[in-house]
Amino acid sequence: MLPTRGIFAWPRGQALVAPATLLLLAACFDPGGTSSPVHSKDPVPDTSLIPLPHGFPKIPYPADNPPTAAKIELGRRLFYETGLSRDRSISCATCHRQEGSFADPPKPFTFGIDGHLTGRNSPSLANLAYAPLLFADGAAMSLEEQAAVPIQNPLEMDMDTNALTRRLDAVPLYRNLFRNAWGDSSASFRTVLGALASFERSLLSGASPYDRWKNAEGPALSESARRGETLFSGKAACNECHSGFLFTDRAFHNTGLDTLSLDPGRAGITGIPLDSGRFKTPSLRNIALSPPYMHDGRFLTLRKVIDHYNSGGLPHPDRDPLIRPLGLTEAEITDLSAFLESLTDTAFAADTAFSAPATP
Ligand code: HEC
Ligand code: HEC
Repeated sequence: MLPTRGIFAWPRGQALVAPATLLLLAACFDPGGTSSPVHSKDPVPDTSLIPLPHGFPKIPYPADNPPTAAKIELGRRLFYETGLSRDRSISCATCHRQEGSFADPPKPFTFGIDGHLTGRNSPSLANLAYAPLLFADGAAMSLEEQAAVPIQNPLEMDMDTNALTRRLDAVPLYRNLFRNAWGDSSASFRTVLGALASFERSLLSGASPYDRWKNAEGPALSESARRGETLFSGKAACNECHSGFLFTDRAFHNTGLDTLSLDPGRAGITGIPLDSGRFKTPSLRNIALSPPYMHDGRFLTLRKVIDHYNSGGLPHPDRDPLIRPLGLTEAEITDLSAFLESLTDTAFAADTAFSAPATP
């Protein structure tokens, strides 16, 4: 694994958060566990409250932020809370919509506060509990760390953290929820982030037609999707990078999208020129729900993505050797699309456990 500067680097290629703020954040959720523990009312982790899809391993979580039902409940409400943005216009869900597997279909970029556009496409938030690095360039090392970025980013929610905690403390419902989750009715930025991360850890999705067929729990996949599965791990070798139960190797690759990368991708974090134009391999679960595709949403359809891979991509000194002309026929492209579409968990995209909570 290459060294990362983590949150000390701006994840979208713009240095907009004051370094002092980032230092404070770094002191929050410390993966090494050297920071003082969070005093939760219910310190016993109850991971059974996050039902694991068939075949999924237990979810990892930071030692100082075990998931609890109360944190998840608070995090869910915060996720849909427009009060997290300076002018109360934007919530996390504005850019991460459940019907799109918590991505923002169908736009390449999304409007944040004051009509600012995001610099990258808003990705799905399904199954991020397992992701060791967040953002397309891997700039954040935990969900706790990640959530601090959109809240403070002047292009997204532009919220002052003290103003945020004052705002939450003024609402009796939040005082109750914070007390239940953390044993303290006053919000802190750290407990806001911890609750958001706990909710996100609960967003597990693994009940697609493909899974149900594989686990002998549902009807057979179409012949076409089954031929597509064979192509995926055969002639097209997609599984070389989109591997494992989430269809991602969690690594960074240059897929030959550009001869000259406008977005430095992973190189923006590591400073290593060879990382230029390398991006995190996204999971392909629910991929049909979250167009457009790639870090900048340049491809509007899955067909366009497959056409790109089939062409072998553009020449770039660091293009991954696996990106080469594939020679897929029209029928094979149809089969590969059918396979990708079979990875859609429609129940997840409609599960009321993840929807906006009812207003009390
Ligand atoms: C204005 C739109 C916008 C808002 C508001 C927003 N996001 Fe995002 N989110 C994005 C974009 C765009 C990215 C991709 C950025 C990148 O990869 O550099 C992203 C990335 C993420 C990721 C990383 C996903 C991955 O696969 O690595 C997580 C987690 C996330 N957002 C959670 C949140 C949470 C929690 C909130 C609310 C506190 C939030 N987002 C608010 C647009 C938004
Ligand atoms: C060399 C590794 C590699 C191979 C091989 C590969 N991919 Fe990818 N794939 C990636 C990376 C990295 C990205 C993210 C690129 C970006 O964001 O610019 C990606 C993105 C995608 C996306 C868009 C995901 C999203 O959320 O926007 C789809 C769909 C996809 N790949 C499908 C495939 C298919 C189908 C194949 C086989 C034909 C394939 N990939 C082969 C690494 C790979």
